[in-house]
Amino acid sequence: MSFQKVLVLDFGGQYNQLIARRVRDHKVYAEIKNYETPIEEIKAENYCGIIFTGGPNSVYDMASPHYSKEILELGIPVLGICYGCQLIAWMCGGQVSSCEKSEYGKIEVTCTERSSLLFENVPETSTVWMSHTDYISAVPEGFKITSHSDDCPCASMENSQKKIYAVQFHPEVTHSEYGDVILKNFLYNICGCKGDWVMDDFIENTVAKLKAQIGDQKVILGLSGGVDSSVAAGLLSRAVGKQLTCVFVDQGLMRKDEGDFVEETFTKLFDMNFVRVNCQKEFITKLKGVTDPEQKRKIIGTEFYKVFWDKIREEADGGFFAQGTIYPDCIESGKGDADTIKTHHNKVKMPENITFEGIIEPLSELFKDEVRKVGEKLGIPHELVWRQPFPGPGLGVRIIGEITEEKVRILQEADAVFRDEIAKAGIEDTLSQFFAVLPDVKTVGVMGDHRTYDHLIAIRAVTTDNFMTADWARIPYDVLARISNRITNEVDHVNRVVYDITSKPPGTVEWE
Ligand code: XMP
Repeated sequence: MSFQKVLVLDFGGQYNQLIARRVRDHKVYAEIKNYETPIEEIKAENYCGIIFTGGPNSVYDMASPHYSKEILELGIPVLGICYGCQLIAWMCGGQVSSCEKSEYGKIEVTCTERSSLLFENVPETSTVWMSHTDYISAVPEGFKITSHSDDCPCASMENSQKKIYAVQFHPEVTHSEYGDVILKNFLYNICGCKGDWVMDDFIENTVAKLKAQIGDQKVILGLSGGVDSSVAAGLLSRAVGKQLTCVFVDQGLMRKDEGDFVEETFTKLFDMNFVRVNCQKEFITKLKGVTDPEQKRKIIGTEFYKVFWDKIREEADGGFFAQGTIYPDCIESGKGDADTIKTHHNKVKMPENITFEGIIEPLSELFKDEVRKVGEKLGIPHELVWRQPFPGPGLGVRIIGEITEEKVRILQEADAVFRDEIAKAGIEDTLSQFFAVLPDVKTVGVMGDHRTYDHLIAIRAVTTDNFMTADWARIPYDVLARISNRITNEVDHVNRVVYDITSKPPGTVEWE
């Protein structure tokens, strides 16, 4: 590969992928390697810069991750962040001590070395994000302090001759006002980066790696029709074509025509074996008479994975198992806390009686917006690449009460009208998620001269950055009027439409 590369040497910090991502945002390729990577491997790669990440340990604890001092003698520019900063001080003979008062959160630092290449275009005082309980109490010989805060005498230091730089704060997080400028300065002023990396290179690089890893073996991927698994399928198809089998389980709870659209996309646009499992009828049968939301979720989840693994077992031919896991799934699953949604949906647990050559997760270092860029470059349709989040249990959590074929039809049609009107109004990009819900409610209405007693449709649209909290979207009244008008006219057995004006909290995004 012809582009320059920066190494992010991972000492166990929580923002490592974010560092790599910020570097990539500056059009420089970054790859992350563990601190146990042998120095020979690092020398062989011809990196133009190395970043030591943060980490939760104390450098003076000998059990903490360390690295051979030789890495600082390679002539490659180094930037240490937080733990990485203290590690450099410790490796070079400086002193690291425990703070009397830990610094956590937004802190003001003063840059005292105005000629520092790292601080070019950074004002004398600025806010940074600190999170540390150790600090550099004596800088090593050859280094000078370049900034400080009220409680931290060395917020950054450098040995510009040896091109070794270190910052106690986290330039990679957005709370550090000029963090991005500092990273850019390191890359361009110090490492001499040219900014020669584009998403095409990621695709080319990943495809080459996948080809080498897979060889002439088979790969099987569970395709949900969501952004991540679709992009993983696109990449794998480009790498190994027909050696790839994608299994798509259609449990009948997707949006209108979505199953057909996914099938058409992957059979017509991509080279692969595409297996669609149509089990709509079986799901409806299993859900007959069930009204409790948790029970419905459980049945849908259990049944889905049963069908999924049965098919995988049938189709798998040794080889590898691939997943569309993206970086945020890895953090969420790793936390092991409440976020079982993602663990369940994206990082699936393998049944014990099935073994593979290995697991392939080609997107595991990327963030969602990067995955979308890759998807667009691969030629995956806009509709799939920009698909809004869709819950694993599908329309099952949007039909309150018992799920029947008739209710699925009503909801799919109402939802399709809603989506169509939002698209026509050109406000799709202003909404994070929007969908129709079918509450188990019938109301009296009048149509022509007749009294009706029919279903109510609720429509829900939210704006949010993170889905932990959300606001209801202020859709213009005239758009709401058109939606209501069309749903009551075009969808049989619906005589009333309401708009959900609840934020999260106290409501959730979904109704169940
Ligand atoms: P709530 O309803 O919890 O939704 O506010 C937050 C986001 O998560 C999605 N969601 C799910 N996603 N499996 C998923 O993969 C699920 O069971 C599930 N439940 C909710 C929801 O659509 C929203 O984007």
